[in-house]
Amino acid sequence: MTDIPEFRSEFHEPDLDPHADTSVVVPDEIPGDELESSLRPKNLREFVGQHRVREQLELVLSGAKQRGAVPDHVLLAGPPGLGKTSLAMIIAAELGTSLRITSGPALERAGDLAAMLSNLVEGDVLFIDEIHRIARPAEEMLYLAMEDFRVDVIVGKGPGATSIPLEIAPFTLVGATTRSGQLTSPLRDRFGFTAHMEFYSPEELQHIITRSAVILGVDLRAAGAEEIARRSRGTPRIANRLLRRVRDFAEVRSDGAVTVDIARQALKVYDVDELGLDRLDRAVLRVLCESFGGGPVGLTTLAVAVGEEPTTVEEVCEPFLVRVGMLARTPRGRVATSRAWEHLGLSPDTGAFAPTPLFTD
Ligand SMILES: Nc1ncnc2c1ncn2[C@@H]1O[C@H](COP(=O)(O)OP(=O)(O)OP(=O)(O)O)[C@@H](O)[C@H]1O
Ligand SMILES: [Mg+2]
Repeated sequence: MTDIPEFRSEFHEPDLDPHADTSVVVPDEIPGDELESSLRPKNLREFVGQHRVREQLELVLSGAKQRGAVPDHVLLAGPPGLGKTSLAMIIAAELGTSLRITSGPALERAGDLAAMLSNLVEGDVLFIDEIHRIARPAEEMLYLAMEDFRVDVIVGKGPGATSIPLEIAPFTLVGATTRSGQLTSPLRDRFGFTAHMEFYSPEELQHIITRSAVILGVDLRAAGAEEIARRSRGTPRIANRLLRRVRDFAEVRSDGAVTVDIARQALKVYDVDELGLDRLDRAVLRVLCESFGGGPVGLTTLAVAVGEEPTTVEEVCEPFLVRVGMLARTPRGRVATSRAWEHLGLSPDTGAFAPTPLFTD
């Protein structure tokens, strides 16, 4: 086992090794984003921000280590791109054990999960991404596995079916979900610790892309970094992606240095506005304000109107729009706030529906 570093609240020196171990294959990696894995923080020390989660997690891991036991199961909940997969890898790295990766949709039958579980070695970390999408039979098998490190495998069908108990090695389950509300409560209750990931501050994002720039060999100036960080919707994945796009612009149209001016020009080309809202965010607000008078309008209608899947609108756009106070989720549907009207440079029609946001979900 490796030593778990002390919790430190200040920023740390970035890891300058671009060839650090990236041997684990990540299933959710987006084609074209092949560099994402090289930018992942490798240990808690490199993991920027999320101070509360980091401190809590450190206690969970250190406590288990002191007792010589496997840590409790961990659930990582939060919007996409905030570092859930990275944190799962870090948990295994901090424990010095291996990480087995799968995802909810891949566990369609209980047999798929049984095979995965029976191959675990004591202390392994099993990472189930998108755990809210796990099929029911696999989920039920998981209950027993999480609690008693045992599964019952049913062999055969009908009256001749028998159940064979199978011992599995004590392991730590790390589940990641963008929709913790969709988890059934028996499953949620079996996690000993839930980490709620928060959006990052511009300063934290600036730190992240400064580290990424070193790894990628980009000449990133402080003011340029600040500009990109401010427009990254509080999300490290977006910050890293914008850095790469701005780098392209800087290399093709200029001398490669990412200054504040270059960052601004490039982000304009890529349709990222002052607050970091992209084309889809603005489309959602525009439809909401222009076509539906500010709402309330149902999620599905909104999604159809912008030509996107409801889940994309709900999981990708809305958390940020709610956070910046432009959109409210009310029992009757989505409502644009005055900040949204202002941002679009529109004014609510006096005769139209006057929104009374009820900040309930
Ligand atoms: N705290 C952090 N410090 C530094 N980089 C980070 C941090 N969190 C995330 N990143 C960067 O953001 C990228 C996306 O993170 P990650 O894949 O872990 O997000 P995720 O929460 O699993 O997203 P999804 O829900 O889409 O699976 C990583 O490749 C990493 O480079
Ligand atoms: Mg992930």
